[in-house]
Amino acid sequence: MKKITTRARRSIKVINKTSEMQKISKKIRRRNISIGFVPTMGALHKGHISLIDIARKHSQFVVVSIFVNPTQFGPKEDFSNYPRTFNKDLDCLFEKKVDIVFAPTINEIYPEEYGTYIDIPDFSNKLCGKSRPTHFKGVCTIVAKLFNIVSPDIAVFGEKDAQQVIILKKMVKDLNFPVKIITGKIIREPSGLAMSSRNKYLTDKQKQNASIIYKTLKETEKKINNGERNIQNLKKFIRNGLLTKMDHPATAENELKIDYIEIINKDNLQQPKTLKGECLIAIAVWCGKTRLIDNITVNFNH
Ligand SMILES: Nc1ncnc2c1ncn2[C@@H]1O[C@H](COP(=O)(O)OP(=O)(O)OP(=O)(O)O)[C@@H](O)[C@H]1O
Ligand SMILES: [Mg+2]
Repeated sequence: MKKITTRARRSIKVINKTSEMQKISKKIRRRNISIGFVPTMGALHKGHISLIDIARKHSQFVVVSIFVNPTQFGPKEDFSNYPRTFNKDLDCLFEKKVDIVFAPTINEIYPEEYGTYIDIPDFSNKLCGKSRPTHFKGVCTIVAKLFNIVSPDIAVFGEKDAQQVIILKKMVKDLNFPVKIITGKIIREPSGLAMSSRNKYLTDKQKQNASIIYKTLKETEKKINNGERNIQNLKKFIRNGLLTKMDHPATAENELKIDYIEIINKDNLQQPKTLKGECLIAIAVWCGKTRLIDNITVNFNH
């Protein structure tokens, strides 16, 4: 990446105030210019960049938010340690010619008297919601607020967070948000590991072991294409792949611990009775103290 001077960094427009962001969005929309929005928690990587490229393709004015949202972290989770690389993020957004960075303070988003939350219990209590019971309530609430502040025509989310996409599409439909949700493919390291800000927590050995997640998903896809249709067999195959095929021996630090392995219908996040059509295979594992997620969509009609 080119070295960027502080002056260049300063020339990207960063808005901290909700009221100011709303004023700008209103002005842009009045001029019939379409707004594309990419919400992030910062510590940007190529996954985020790919979403910005999609937003650019579908809209004329691109807003990226950087906000580490406290309400989507559980009380024992990593909110205070979450990677924060604001200046580096700005350099990267400057290079991508993003029009506005919205980076509010916590108090700007959740003032003391704050009290409204959005929850979709039937969707939020499954998969990631089992071990992170308040996570999606925090996600829905912040995304709804950001939509009201940024007023985007389109918003782009990554397929890595498949459950998040399903939940947000439902929220948009249920609450009539005038926003089109567009999704971006999962961007991966050369090893296959899905990119994630939290990968910064991993040691090299942990990263190598975690690359078994995607390899196992691809092996599972092969098994399905060869005719396997039994859910329990498939889950057993995945479990076995994750637990026994890592590059490095499973020491306390390097082992993978399975949070969940699910094969589900994308419409309702339920496990189907018989496997047909498109399904999502979603995985969450602990690698040391870091929780990683990944998924693929498979077609059982082949
Ligand atoms: N590897 C990836 N490929 C495509 N999109 C991604 C990828 N990783 C994250 N995203 C998307 O980027 C957006 C912002 O996510 P976020 O800032 O939480 O990053 P993250 O890498 O998922 O961080 P974390 O691992 O801490 O959750 C989300 O829509 C998310 O789905
Ligand atoms: Mg994330």
